[in-house]
Amino acid sequence: MLNHLYSLIHEPIKITHQDRDSFINWSSAVAQRAFIENDQDAKLEAQRALYNLYLGRLAVPWEKRAINVNHPLLTEIQFIFEQSWYEAERLKHEPKLQSLPQVEDFPSWVQDYASNHYSNDLHPIFPFLAKEASLGQMREFFFQETPLEMLFGDIVGLMLPGLYGLPKMELVRNYWDEVGCGVENRVHRNLRSQLMQYLGIPADAYISHADLLICEELELINLYLGLALNREKLTQLIGVMLTTELVIPGQFNYLIEGWKRLGISDAMLAYHMEHTTVDEVHAQDLLYRIVMPILKDAPHLMSDIVMGVSRRLDASGAVRDKLYDRICNLSVDVNRNYALR
Ligand SMILES: [Fe+2]
Ligand SMILES: [Fe+2]
Repeated sequence: MLNHLYSLIHEPIKITHQDRDSFINWSSAVAQRAFIENDQDAKLEAQRALYNLYLGRLAVPWEKRAINVNHPLLTEIQFIFEQSWYEAERLKHEPKLQSLPQVEDFPSWVQDYASNHYSNDLHPIFPFLAKEASLGQMREFFFQETPLEMLFGDIVGLMLPGLYGLPKMELVRNYWDEVGCGVENRVHRNLRSQLMQYLGIPADAYISHADLLICEELELINLYLGLALNREKLTQLIGVMLTTELVIPGQFNYLIEGWKRLGISDAMLAYHMEHTTVDEVHAQDLLYRIVMPILKDAPHLMSDIVMGVSRRLDASGAVRDKLYDRICNLSVDVNRNYALR
């Protein structure tokens, strides 16, 4: 069904009543198994379906047409998966929403929450990458993080419409950094693809080799894309973005140490080095110039923001756990040749 869904998005197919019935039955059954019965295969199937639907919404016609992307059936399939997933997430994170701080205490509360969460640089994968990992192991970690890092600028861009005043200015500044302040070879996506090419990973690997992505990374990127493509979820996405900017500098310091230990040059590490400095500024700006003004105006939105913080921390924790296990136990060929396809 996933292949059929892919054709439905990208090919000039006329969608019939029969297609409609079989896709609705399939997505409802997969959503039930994935998000209610916790079945791992169904989770992967659901996240792959969502990832394809979201990528279809970013596709440009001169590269990859997404002819039917606005067809009501595709919207309905996406809705069925998202509804079950979001409900499961709500049940999981609700306890965290029971003990929220006062608005004025939010900055220190959220910084403590993010920096003490096990997914952050306390996670054993970071010292392992810094001190022990082979080039292949580093490369596998780096490949798996590709979707979010290559699409990050797009996600910031998707936050801009309908937003005005100070929050818009702050996000535009963040976006301007993402696009290298207008200098093409400083665009973050281009800096990262330099290192990808050096390591033999195609720059579009997050699409061309998407079948190699672990389910947890798909959940992470789909968290961002699902929220970014739904304006109603903007406050939750702001919580997700705040967390990202808070945790990246510490984590990237470990990666830089690991890459340098393996002889990778400073020039190749420009992407990582850039983020150890700009993200500290982004985090403070997001916190004091976007989140705090929102909370002062509408304190009841704190639970949406914290939902984003909590989902982001747990989703990246799950990625770290899975990759630590996979990379340390060498359960995959970390030296795989991406060109052999
Ligand atoms: Fe960036
Ligand atoms: Fe940033």
